[in-house]
Amino acid sequence: MGLLVSRRIVVRKDAQALQGEAVQLFVDTARSAIKDHATFRIALSGGNTPRPVYEQLASEPACGQVDWSRVQVFFSDERFVPPDSPESNYRMANDALLSRVNIPARFVHPVSTVDISPEQSASIYEEGIRRVFVAELDRIPAFDLILLGMGEDGHTASLFPGTEGLKAQDQLVVANHVPQLDSWRLTFTFPLINAAHCVAFVVEGDAKADRVAEVLAGSDLPAARVDPTDGTVLWLLDEAAAARLSPEFRSAS
Ligand code: 6PG
Repeated sequence: MGLLVSRRIVVRKDAQALQGEAVQLFVDTARSAIKDHATFRIALSGGNTPRPVYEQLASEPACGQVDWSRVQVFFSDERFVPPDSPESNYRMANDALLSRVNIPARFVHPVSTVDISPEQSASIYEEGIRRVFVAELDRIPAFDLILLGMGEDGHTASLFPGTEGLKAQDQLVVANHVPQLDSWRLTFTFPLINAAHCVAFVVEGDAKADRVAEVLAGSDLPAARVDPTDGTVLWLLDEAAAARLSPEFRSAS
């Protein structure tokens, strides 16, 4: 499907309403995936924006609406730091959600970042994804939902402007050196992201408004290259992040 057909933009009045929208998306997508194929395979995003979403998912009423015994959790990107580092996306999600719900430990798939090279970590993570999806080598695993954020520079996951990871076509996960941060990241690649059934950006705040408008207008920034082949891309925005969008971009809802 082309972008215009498979893209939906939802704007909510403030960050709290936006978080509620993201929580409901998680619950609804989990329910339909589990009903359809007995499992919900999701990739969580990192950074600051999703933390309150994860905290709400760990609390009632949302928590009781998800069959956590059937949820498989991966990470759409990870900083190459130890799992107990304050920078770790795994640590953030584990503190906010994963340690607070009855998800089987074997269904939580953190990126290996200790006593391993970034490249080895990326290939091990990719093998782990394929094992869970029991995917043939020639098929790209299709996540039920991939959550993504967007930076003020238009990066998403750890696909930053001007970095080698943007070019990956044969891998599902790559080690990506980010000179802007002088650090290594592990990230899903566009082929894996664009194989998903649903990709949802959750973006808030006026600092990102210009970039959101630029990306949705079709720039070549990394976030603009998220265009699922057979899936849907949702942009969940608060009014502040949507402030520069022209009227035709805003959904009726
Ligand atoms: C990360 C994220 C990254 C994040 C954006 C937005 O590891 O930092 O995966 O892609 O989603 O940088 O981050 P904020 O939500 O903190 O603005």
